[in-house]
Amino acid sequence: MSKKINVVEVGPRDGFQSVKEFIPTEVKLNIIDGIIESGVKKIQITSFVSPKAIPQMRDAKEVTEKVLEKYDGKGVEFFALVPNFYGANAAVEAGLREITPVMSLSESHNKNNVRRTCQESIDELKKIRDTFPDIKITQDIATVFGCPFEGEMKSIDPLMNLLEKLRAIDIHAFTLCDTIGVAWPTLVEKVFTAVKKEFPEDEFGVHIHDTRNMGIINSFTALSCGADNVQAAVAGLGGCPFAPGATGNTSTEDLVYMLNKCGYDTGIDFDKLLKTAKYARANIDGNFSGHHIDIPEHPCVITQD
Ligand code: COA
Ligand code: ZN
Repeated sequence: MSKKINVVEVGPRDGFQSVKEFIPTEVKLNIIDGIIESGVKKIQITSFVSPKAIPQMRDAKEVTEKVLEKYDGKGVEFFALVPNFYGANAAVEAGLREITPVMSLSESHNKNNVRRTCQESIDELKKIRDTFPDIKITQDIATVFGCPFEGEMKSIDPLMNLLEKLRAIDIHAFTLCDTIGVAWPTLVEKVFTAVKKEFPEDEFGVHIHDTRNMGIINSFTALSCGADNVQAAVAGLGGCPFAPGATGNTSTEDLVYMLNKCGYDTGIDFDKLLKTAKYARANIDGNFSGHHIDIPEHPCVITQD
């Protein structure tokens, strides 16, 4: 039996947040519909952040309520990013059962992104954990592989220390993020091998930005080293507004094409997903790094036995 790969779609958050002009809620919902129709089983649908910081996400409540109304109980998991307790509370009130608080490994990016020291973010996370014991928390750790202000990852020790602190407040699911897309395969291998060896019972996802065209290879490397899931954004839409120079995530359809062709079980229909990616590009004035969206309708197709 082919190996199952859990592909997690984050375009409706990580992709949309980078777009200046407000994307009509209906367009957002159409894209989420298309992602679900293609077979994706887990989607980050929005973020509950300050509308002053990211006006694009001001319809977080409406998006969440509409998605849950349509799809709750139908085998797809939905979650949202939250920067603080306020956001966690709003996400839970809107009906979500899973949230992703975000903090950075680097002090300066954390300050820039969520205006807190790392310790303040940990303290707030503890409050979130204690207040919502039944909500699944998957902690995003940004700038693991490099920070726009502090440079490349020099040692794995700060990450291991942070993981120990987070585990001490009962957090056991993490997404390790290459926020600005500076990682390379042997570094990804080192990091995922180390965390899976040290904490084999915990969940580690990978989230790579494709700034240097290494999204696919780094995502694949993480999966080969035991990552439990891989995040990607439809059409490769995106960039972090608080990380200068970062582009979108690895595009979901490019990743799915590779994984499906390799014989892995993603459960995702590539053609349907590509249709949604093209819809996104046609309807959003953003930055797209996906490759398949530019390939003509009838390319030279190489079939596999
Ligand atoms: N959702 C909506 N509103 C929020 C909020 C949230 N999660 N958190 C705070 N606010 C509101 C407060 O009510 C307050 O409103 P007011 O000015 O009308 O009184 C205002 O925002 C400021 O609150 P404060 O706690 O002082 O926050 P801040 O100004 O220090 O901003 C963040 C910190 C984290 C809320 C803000 O920077 C943010 O949302 N950043 C988004 C980061 C992000 O998404 N990055 C990209 C993804 S990694
Ligand atoms: Zn990201």
